[in-house]
Amino acid sequence: MVSDPTHRHQSVLQSLTQYVEERVPLEEIRKLAGKKKVPAHQHSLWYYMGGIAGMLLGVQIITGILLEVYYVPEINSAHASILKLNSQINFGWLVRSLHSWGANLMIAAVLVHLFSAYFMKAYRKPREFTWWSGLALMAISLAFGFTGYLLPWDEVSFFATKIGLDIAEKMPLVGPVIAYMLRGGDSISQATISRFFVIHIALLPALLLALLGGHLMLVQAHGISEPDDFKKLPAEKKKYEKFFPTFFFKDILVWILALNILFALSTLCPWGIGPEADPFAAAPIGIKPEWYFLAPFQFLKLIPPAVGPIEGELFGILLMSLAAFAFVLVPLFDKGSSNARSRVATVFGVVVLLALIGFSIWGALS
Ligand code: HEM
Repeated sequence: MVSDPTHRHQSVLQSLTQYVEERVPLEEIRKLAGKKKVPAHQHSLWYYMGGIAGMLLGVQIITGILLEVYYVPEINSAHASILKLNSQINFGWLVRSLHSWGANLMIAAVLVHLFSAYFMKAYRKPREFTWWSGLALMAISLAFGFTGYLLPWDEVSFFATKIGLDIAEKMPLVGPVIAYMLRGGDSISQATISRFFVIHIALLPALLLALLGGHLMLVQAHGISEPDDFKKLPAEKKKYEKFFPTFFFKDILVWILALNILFALSTLCPWGIGPEADPFAAAPIGIKPEWYFLAPFQFLKLIPPAVGPIEGELFGILLMSLAAFAFVLVPLFDKGSSNARSRVATVFGVVVLLALIGFSIWGALS
């Protein structure tokens, strides 16, 4: 007797599906995804930002692992290993460009996600912990940028790191200890590269992935927030989209768009590298940090040497720390029950956002 091959394939597939379903709660996951809905309104565009940040994080992990194969975290070889990646390793230049441009795009996406969640008041009950875990993710993303910047060991990366650590040192009490521990001494040396490398490839990824797991679990638990004007609509006027498959496939379309931008930037403007760092040379004139640190850098430059009895830079750092702390406290201040408080939070957000944009442009042009 000859058995029907199509039938045989089907029964193999059926037994395989049954094997997996008995062990993995696929049906539960399917039900959960089916229940999730996304409010559809004129600000829905902002709901894509967290997903874009997550997709770019995926790109960073893949390209970061590939870079680790060739990068040497050694003071005499770091710069040469990047030159080799750029010119001798097949597609090394592309992987490095994707990682460097990806870092910038990811930080931009996280910043947009932060401010859109802020202005949509998504920090209010019950999403306070989603917000706080998000703030920690922002800090970690910036720490990724700061530690990664030193690794190519070129002139700009060396002096930008030096300026950054000198500023961190000014923080009262903890500043000098933190700067000393990060440097591994009083000056930037092999110990600094080793520390920055371990922080960049092990400590920060572990922290980020653990926090992101919590962040996404909370998003899943509370569903997507609804802005005030949507909440006020009568039930029949409120429109929703199913997360799966409608929003999910739109998410993927947006990711493809973002990936196109990333590949266009990486291939049309490949990431370069400057001359090797010389710790004994004078800092190049007009040296500036990356764009995401430009605003605080420019702000500190404008403060006079002393403000009353306090040293100018210290005063500036305290002022900026207070503004950052206000973002931590905002869910406790604006709980949605008082219009006046809600307005204060919005105005504060607008002022901070405009200050960040204004000081960044000023810093870039000066
Ligand atoms: C690596 C960085 C981050 C990733 C990958 C990420 C990912 C996500 C994703 C996928 C969502 C659901 C879709 C959406 O609303 O966009 C979400 C929601 C949310 N995220 Fe993030 N996030 C990150 C950082 C942040 C930051 C910096 C904040 C703010 C401080 C934040 C606050 C929130 C809040 C409050 C929600 C709930 C939004 C709502 O319910 O409308 N996240 N995040």
